[in-house]
Amino acid sequence: MHLIIEMLEVLKRLALMNATRRVLKISSKELAEKIGQSVQTAARKLKELEEEGLIERTLTKDGQFIVITDKGKRLLYKEYLDYKSIFEGDETVTIKGKVFSGMGEGRYYVSLDGYRRQFVEKLGFDPYPGTLNLKIPKEQLYFRRRLDEEEGILIEGFSTPDRTFGEVKAFKCRVGGIDGAIVMPKRTHYPEDVLEVIAPVKLRDALKLKDGDYVEVEVIL
Ligand code: CDP
Repeated sequence: MHLIIEMLEVLKRLALMNATRRVLKISSKELAEKIGQSVQTAARKLKELEEEGLIERTLTKDGQFIVITDKGKRLLYKEYLDYKSIFEGDETVTIKGKVFSGMGEGRYYVSLDGYRRQFVEKLGFDPYPGTLNLKIPKEQLYFRRRLDEEEGILIEGFSTPDRTFGEVKAFKCRVGGIDGAIVMPKRTHYPEDVLEVIAPVKLRDALKLKDGDYVEVEVIL
């Protein structure tokens, strides 16, 4: 058996030259240039593809003619379906964090009318007053950092007679099957290893969580 991955690479090249749709005239030298390999290697690869029934090859006095067979096309299609599942759908990242208790500040901020109205309007739910704090372990920080780079959903700041409240960035998310959101203040210094989740219900009750438990948050970017 020849390395399937090597064969796919050449097969894809040939397909990009329309060899699934028409008979392609190509010399081993031309193919060698396209795949950046020696002429001998290119010739050997074509022979391998032929032996596997992935292409049909005809040699005439006018040159080498190639067509990708149904079997070859099916192999490419399978590869295509793999990429489709990698790239399609909502872009989400899953981050695992450890539940911890804060100092009751979440309750205060989430209850403020200026934020709450926007949560309802932009996130589609009226949040339980509070935030579930998650400490993000070191190996999970890559995707946590992604959230710093992403735009997210803007929750605007506002002022009351006493003070002003800054902008907040939100991402819709799912925690244990419940739709919620990650909220993070935009300007204030914010720890790089913390996430705060809001949801229409008290997540500690709904998911039976206590301090020290790990939960996975699927964040929609
Ligand atoms: O005291 P702390 O800052 O951790 O909490 P808070 O933001 O004032 O929220 C009150 C309590 O509700 C905390 O125990 C949160 O973990 C919890 N909570 C929850 O279980 N589900 C939510 N959707 C929001 C908060």
